Amino acid sequence: MKTLTTAAEMQLAAAGLRGLDKHIGFVPTMGALHEGHLALVRRAKKECDATVVSLFVNPAQFGPHEDYLKYPRDLERDTALLSREGVALLFAPSVEEMYPDGFQTYTMVEGASAPLEGQFRPGHFRGVATVVLKLFNIVQPHAAYFGQKDAQQCAIIRRMVRDLNLPLEIVVCPIVREPDGLALSSRNAYLKPDERQAALALYRSLCRARELIEAGERRSDELIRQMRALVEAAPGSRIDYVAVADADSFEPRPMVAGRTVIALAVWIGGTRLIDNLIVEETGGRFAFHL
Ligand code: PAJ
Repeated sequence: MKTLTTAAEMQLAAAGLRGLDKHIGFVPTMGALHEGHLALVRRAKKECDATVVSLFVNPAQFGPHEDYLKYPRDLERDTALLSREGVALLFAPSVEEMYPDGFQTYTMVEGASAPLEGQFRPGHFRGVATVVLKLFNIVQPHAAYFGQKDAQQCAIIRRMVRDLNLPLEIVVCPIVREPDGLALSSRNAYLKPDERQAALALYRSLCRARELIEAGERRSDELIRQMRALVEAAPGSRIDYVAVADADSFEPRPMVAGRTVIALAVWIGGTRLIDNLIVEETGGRFAFHL
């Protein structure tokens, strides 16, 4: 695996691969890699000729009081993991490379960035859309792989790709979980042992929502009420939101119908965790992606 640190080198490498008619698969990450990231890498490897992974902790998507400085970083470990997976290229630029002096162009997906994560993390999706568009222009992939773990991010990237006619395919991969259900996240490293236990409330509340829907419940307010009660019972928890929304627009929905996302963001002590369940209704039958 080769590690490249400048946009110019990466663009040259991408042009070389495209010249050889290689199908480029791309996995953008912020590092601190876990099995969730590696599942995206394996899917890209399976479906493409050359896999490019980027590793960049993007300051533009962190709020002023968020964990940008303490976000876990371990380039050596991440590099070893990726080379073991057979990744062709790692793109690991510096902040100055991505945001040189005088930088002033941002990308904003308006509607889908406003609710839920957008409401609690103002500016977050502007930072995400900007860096992802830059990375697409630098890596020039045919396909880019994202995790359902960040379902609103997926909806925003899909919208941006459609709206700006970007010539690539977006592939969304299932959430990878610990055996007890906790969704893998780089931020799980912040959890103390008792908080790790309390963090299970997110997954359990989504399982409760699934059971309720299976039993015929369709009303969002009833699903939300029961999920909130379950989460609030976990020690040290504080809810940012529990919501039922359209899985593409992320607009709140009064009932579960069509493609619906049930999403929540919860603080466990000083750690903010998110999780979601996508419910797909076709002809009165429900499929659950948890
Ligand atoms: P990061 O949090 O590092 O996540 C990189 C990718 O891994 C995202 O697509 C995310 O949804 C996916 N991922 C994380 N945990 C996962 C899990 N448990 N199962 C499956 N996929 C999982 O998301 C970002 O970085 C950044 O916002 C980025 C897109 C790189 C832009 O800076």
